[in-house]
Amino acid sequence: MSDPTHVPPSKVVLVSGGSRGLGLAIVTDLIDSGVKVAAFARTVTPELTALAEKYPDQVHVGPVDINDEKAGQAFVKEVEGKLGPIDGIVNNAAVGQDSLHVHTSAEQIANIIQTNLTAPLVLTRFVLRRMMAKGLKGRIVNVTSICAQRGYPGLVAYSATKGGMDAATRSMARELGGRVLANAVAPGFFASEMSAVLGQTQLDQIVRRTPTGHLTEPEEVVPVVRMLLLENTNINGQVIVIDGAAGI
Ligand SMILES: NC(=O)c1ccc[n+]([C@@H]2O[C@H](COP(=O)([O-])OP(=O)(O)OC[C@H]3O[C@@H](n4cnc5c(N)ncnc54)[C@H](OP(=O)(O)O)[C@@H]3O)[C@@H](O)[C@H]2O)c1
Repeated sequence: MSDPTHVPPSKVVLVSGGSRGLGLAIVTDLIDSGVKVAAFARTVTPELTALAEKYPDQVHVGPVDINDEKAGQAFVKEVEGKLGPIDGIVNNAAVGQDSLHVHTSAEQIANIIQTNLTAPLVLTRFVLRRMMAKGLKGRIVNVTSICAQRGYPGLVAYSATKGGMDAATRSMARELGGRVLANAVAPGFFASEMSAVLGQTQLDQIVRRTPTGHLTEPEEVVPVVRMLLLENTNINGQVIVIDGAAGI
């Protein structure tokens, strides 16, 4: 891409929460696409370790709590040393919720907001500053949720963080205009450790209310993330819903 107004595809992508679920699916897909990938979570799973061992020059992984700012910064520097400068971020790490708002303590609310909203913004800020210092362009993909738009019982604080990230995405796109494409993907419910708190009755109801007749699958979200990171598009500041038009 020689046009200086275009943002080239990412070459080194940082994926938070890449140890399992959607994050692991994104990491695997990006590796298959030939991109260098750095992934962290509090616990590095055997699956993630296996990828790092199989692709030592292409993948770097480590145990980082996204709420530990210094550890996140150290990991970013480690990644730059091993894979090169980061020019793509997938903010995927998050914690869920399974409690009515009236039963959720102030500490629990603060922890959800810290992990799902504050920490990714702080990490993104750090990576962006380094990208800009190097004169790099880049892409950001924030993984949010349909819950931010439709709501769901038991997910009040969680939905607030996802709506916050949707809003931040739009402002990032404006603020970083031209240098960084910032977008979000908002999946519907998919099977994972996070959604395991949903009972069969709730899952059946979601499927019944989904025109496409099935829960969203990580494999249906991954191509959209890949497109936002690697394709030549002018998509910027958007929240792309991937939920089969569920009427949850
Ligand atoms: N599952 C759904 O139905 C659904 C629907 C819409 C959107 N989403 C969103 O999709 C994304 C992935 O969700 P998922 O269902 O794949 O969840 P998951 O299976 O619970 O995976 C979450 C990932 O985030 C990591 N993580 C959590 N807290 C962390 C912390 N403090 N520091 C670093 N890493 C942390 C986890 O690893 P550790 O626990 O080892 O740290 C794990 O790698 C999330 O943003 C979620 O909100 C999920």
